[in-house]
Amino acid sequence: MKDVLIELEQRRATARLGGGQKRIDAQHARGKLTARERLEILLDPDSFEEYDMFVEHRSSDFGMEKQKIPGDGVVTGWGTVNGRKVFVFAKDFTVFGGSLSEAHAQKIIKIQDMAIRNRAPVIGLFDAGGARIQEGVAALGGYGEVFQRNVLASGVIPQISVIMGPCAGGDVYSPAMTDFIFMVRDRSYMFVTGPDVVKTVTNETVTSEELGGAKIHTTKSSIADGAYDNDVDALIDMRRLMDFLPGNNIEGAPEWPSFDDPDRYDPSLDRLIPDNPNKPYDIKELILKTVDEGDFFEIQEAFARNIVTGFGRLEGRTVGVVANQPMVLAGVLDSDASRKAARFVRFCDCFEIPIVTFVDVPGFLPGTAQEYGGLIKHGAKLLFAYAEATVPKVTVITRKAFGGAYDVMASKHLRGDVNYAWPTAQIAVMGAKGAVEIIFRGADAEGIASKTKEYEDHFMSPFVAAERGYIDEVIQPRSTRRRVARALAMLRGKRLENPWKKHDNIPL
Ligand code: HXC
Repeated sequence: MKDVLIELEQRRATARLGGGQKRIDAQHARGKLTARERLEILLDPDSFEEYDMFVEHRSSDFGMEKQKIPGDGVVTGWGTVNGRKVFVFAKDFTVFGGSLSEAHAQKIIKIQDMAIRNRAPVIGLFDAGGARIQEGVAALGGYGEVFQRNVLASGVIPQISVIMGPCAGGDVYSPAMTDFIFMVRDRSYMFVTGPDVVKTVTNETVTSEELGGAKIHTTKSSIADGAYDNDVDALIDMRRLMDFLPGNNIEGAPEWPSFDDPDRYDPSLDRLIPDNPNKPYDIKELILKTVDEGDFFEIQEAFARNIVTGFGRLEGRTVGVVANQPMVLAGVLDSDASRKAARFVRFCDCFEIPIVTFVDVPGFLPGTAQEYGGLIKHGAKLLFAYAEATVPKVTVITRKAFGGAYDVMASKHLRGDVNYAWPTAQIAVMGAKGAVEIIFRGADAEGIASKTKEYEDHFMSPFVAAERGYIDEVIQPRSTRRRVARALAMLRGKRLENPWKKHDNIPL
């Protein structure tokens, strides 16, 4: 028995070395951790249960029969994050560049199947060179099987991808179908075809960083939801994110002990809105002063900054927050902001996370760039997402709620459950001056000024909407946290179902 146990330990030790010490050193020299080191940071101590450590590829082409490395370029298993179960796979760049063989794919598929069956999230750590070139179609088949499971798991269990090195070719589409993608700055990049192919096909000269680095994907393409300076920061923040997310689509938002009084008033909020209605203020101040302990996990912070999306907690339970940001483009809704918020709202609805919406929006952004870019369809995505959502929806209008954007932002008409307005709210078809210039076209300056005043006095308040019951209550800014927390407490038992359908046809 002793010899058998020694052999087991030796085999394990060999497998744990992956592609060998030289390649591990090279990985470290590039400022990257190995797959196993990453999992050690991501998961609770001693919680990782590794599977398929001895799996090897079955390829015999191009001399591959002589190159077998146990584990075959991906480390898989499950563990816990703050005691909650998660399934994981981490590409091991030291083994054939983390490239995906048929056997490698089967290891990932096994984890995906287990995660779906056991209703727990999957976190994938990517650092790989795409399809195992020596395997050809067997690798492509492997990718297809992984993709299929990504789709089946979508909306059932959270799926998170962290890109920590190269992620090219077949490797990009699995993360693209997961709920969130995070990247590590300067060390990771994602593209379908790399700079060499780009040069050949389009004659463009571009670096990997310019083509698919974290900066591009967090600010321009919106492929990534956030970026970190290094592996450790990324993994520690993934632990924080997991604390906000439910394990699946039926268990409901997680609850943690909160030491923040839900009845806490914040008198400084009474002064948040500037006297001048065209002056900006930072909506994040309101978010941070509303959620428990000011703990807010922002999603897509660097993209479409005219809308803020992210997770917070109220009375210890996760909420999704969507808020127009007056500091950027006056908080206007454009195509990017609409897409960003729509996807976030749909994530929350899939996973039974209540949505809190803070509204200060002057409308949709006019112009040819927006219209040619499909603003109608992109704006409709957000409208659609809010309208189909059945989770508790609590809305607070702080200032402007103009035009179609009023309807879109979780209004009463889209089944908003509790809709509050601050006394500073202005709910109207459009801004007063624009409205008067249309209705009283041709009037002189004096006439415009007096009619503008009349329009403002009549419409630029929350009370016309409140008189119709579109606003449930006009609240004091200082009491926002308490009112939102109480509304969510009341909505805990909410049951609302949409008519049966195979699936909807959201405008894509
Ligand atoms: C087999 C691979 C590999 C691959 C890397 N390696 N990619 N082996 N298949 N796809 C091996 C290398 O041979 C090398 O082995 C080791 O991994 C490290 O690679 P390096 O090139 O030395 O590292 P680096 O200089 O950092 O470059 C990393 C890289 C580069 C940018 C990822 O390796 C690369 O361009 N690889 C090929 C990418 C690619 O075209 N993949 C196929 C995409 S097509 P040794 O033994 O020397 O350490 C695809 C289609 C699927 O994925 C579509 C499905 C929908």
